[in-house]
Amino acid sequence: MQRHFLCHQQDIVEGKPREFEIPMEPTPLSLFVIRYENQLYAYQNRCPHLNIPLNWQPDDFLSLEHTHIQCSTHGALFKPDDGYCIAGPCRDEKLTRLTLDLSQNDEIWLQI
Ligand code: FES
Repeated sequence: MQRHFLCHQQDIVEGKPREFEIPMEPTPLSLFVIRYENQLYAYQNRCPHLNIPLNWQPDDFLSLEHTHIQCSTHGALFKPDDGYCIAGPCRDEKLTRLTLDLSQNDEIWLQI
């Protein structure tokens, strides 16, 4: 198992997810971390509809109301706490959740 340092917990605030890219072979791993109801979640930055990135603008992953993760391409809406798609062309599919290690010094580490 590998660990990758992402940022500190205070760097991720409600309503402002943050995007990261981990160098990997053959392609980098693109992901984002979101704080929702004071819990931190990480998802791979891939929409299950077309397997493309969710966002068009940096760190832009939320619906207008900031209640859901939203795909910029066709507007699919995902629940922030489990990545489940509740509306759009990939309804009932899920984002790929990634494992975070929050154990040390308010740091956020990705486990892969
Ligand atoms: S690519 Fe995300 S909803 Fe179509």
